[in-house]
Amino acid sequence: MSILITGANRGIGSALAKEWQNAGENVIRTARNAPGMEALDVADPSSIEQLAKRLEGTPIATLVCNAGVSVDKFDELETGYAPELWAQSFAVNVTGVFLVVQALLPNLRANRDAGGASKIAIIASKMGSQNSSAGNRFIYRASKAAAINLGRNLAANLESEGISVGIYHPGWVATDMGGNAADLTLDEATPGLRQQIDTLTISDTGCFKSWDGTDCEL
Ligand SMILES: NC(=O)c1ccc[n+]([C@@H]2O[C@H](COP(=O)([O-])OP(=O)(O)OC[C@H]3O[C@@H](n4cnc5c(N)ncnc54)[C@H](OP(=O)(O)O)[C@@H]3O)[C@@H](O)[C@H]2O)c1
Repeated sequence: MSILITGANRGIGSALAKEWQNAGENVIRTARNAPGMEALDVADPSSIEQLAKRLEGTPIATLVCNAGVSVDKFDELETGYAPELWAQSFAVNVTGVFLVVQALLPNLRANRDAGGASKIAIIASKMGSQNSSAGNRFIYRASKAAAINLGRNLAANLESEGISVGIYHPGWVATDMGGNAADLTLDEATPGLRQQIDTLTISDTGCFKSWDGTDCEL
């Protein structure tokens, strides 16, 4: 059984990979540029295509769409949020998620056809919830709202095939993105996040859950 993680070279993706590897799972770590990992830039469609070609015929049980960017932390409403930041963020946080799922569907189906449970985990954020509209971070919020929406609609398409889709808020975690003031360390947040993904079944496909199992508002 294989678990493929995007953006597995640092932060939450790397910590999740180690969690599963320590539990004896076969993890396919992907990264833009890291020795020993499968090359994958989720913002580059040809990179996604090449990965899918290399993995042709390899069953994948769990696909974790983790790679993400946050580029507008310090932007101000009046002067910030340049168009290229929107394009860059959506290419990674939204289009990148969709294209990776689309490209690796044959692998998820192959696992299911071999009798396994296949699932997709989308690492979104509570900041994308319509009920967490505190202002600022317009690009990040909108991109994560779109990622949640993708997850909900993928769940609708894939339910009849028996492929589950879960959407997750990993917590506010101390990583390069989360920063030092975060609520949680990687050691605190990652085991819970992994557990949520491990226990996802088709009966709760389309769920949006926090790392600790609590339901998030859409
Ligand atoms: N940390 C938090 O508090 C928090 C809260 C809510 C949600 N999240 C979400 O959790 C996920 C992981 O965040 P993190 O905190 O671990 O962030 P991080 O430490 O900044 O790591 C981001 C990861 O995404 C990868 N990535 C960025 N652009 C990519 C691309 N074009 N193709 C492939 N990989 C790419 C990075 O690879 P490079 O090394 O190549 O840049 C890195 O591995 C993200 O989706 C984030 O939005 C995080």
